[in-house]
Amino acid sequence: MNISLAPYTLEHELERELTYRKINFEKRDRLYFFDADYKPLFAQVTWLNCKKLPIVSINDGIKQLRALGKNWALFSVDHHRRAQLIQDGLAKVKEEPILFLANLPNHPMGGWTLYDKNTIICSQETTSLYPLGKCEFIENKTIPPSRAYLKLWEFFTLHHRPPASGTHVLDMGACPGGWSWVMATLGLKVTAVDKAPLDEKIGKLAQITFLQESAFGLSPEQVPQVDWFFSDIICYPERLLNLVKTWMAKGQVKNFVCTIKFQGEANFSVIDQFLAIPNSKIVHLYHNKHELTWWVNK
Ligand SMILES: C[S@@+](CC[C@H](N)C(=O)[O-])C[C@H]1O[C@@H](n2cnc3c(N)ncnc32)[C@H](O)[C@@H]1O
Repeated sequence: MNISLAPYTLEHELERELTYRKINFEKRDRLYFFDADYKPLFAQVTWLNCKKLPIVSINDGIKQLRALGKNWALFSVDHHRRAQLIQDGLAKVKEEPILFLANLPNHPMGGWTLYDKNTIICSQETTSLYPLGKCEFIENKTIPPSRAYLKLWEFFTLHHRPPASGTHVLDMGACPGGWSWVMATLGLKVTAVDKAPLDEKIGKLAQITFLQESAFGLSPEQVPQVDWFFSDIICYPERLLNLVKTWMAKGQVKNFVCTIKFQGEANFSVIDQFLAIPNSKIVHLYHNKHELTWWVNK
């Protein structure tokens, strides 16, 4: 059995995703229990191959969890006080915000819940090294002009290390400039594209060249050879897919990182078309809203 924790306010999308994949589930608060070898996209964390532990007391629960692993994060759905007393008997979970590009923790982070008074359901095999998949940063509250930069910080810290300094990158839908700012701090040469202007202080950064036009009208011949294509454009997923395919067809860009944004409900048939692109991955970042992050690296 796997259990996914739905991202806050996105329970309906996790339910739609499981239904689309024809997977039956049981819901308890934001936890979704299901018997299928599947890691949902709309999940903050998924606990894989969960174990059911019958317990006779709080101390028994603590003993059994300790025997299975060191780090445990509780998501409580019932019997909250009893669950908390068990959690209090386990190693204290560190929840401090992390630095951009911090080393990843080197111990797994388990997840557990008290299913009923005498049953723990738990797993040490989870999709995140952070408690319940949360990824809070020590933020920069002065320079970035939007909080969108946190998505890129999370992507580079958890999923893929940044390109080498000096690499030429394209930032489509760049305004007001949070992503371009992150790229500039990494020493990347950024071509930023948006119909709206960049924040003034970001536009002045020496590493950034700004083109004020539609990303959909720009052809690969108009920009210098770029190695990475980033997009945070607000547009229909189908439109983004066509844009990405156009740039892929030209063959010069090998790496893509794009936010797939949904205005109404998520469109799983388009999501599958993104996933069908070789070497693709999709996650719901902790800092994603009603959107997913798709990337390809070659
Ligand atoms: C969520 S914001 C991007 C935030 C940005 N990544 C940051 O870190 O500050 C989405 C942007 O997409 C831009 N956009 C929408 N349609 C566009 C188009 N056709 N071409 C370029 N940009 C577009 C909007 O102007 C808006 O600035």
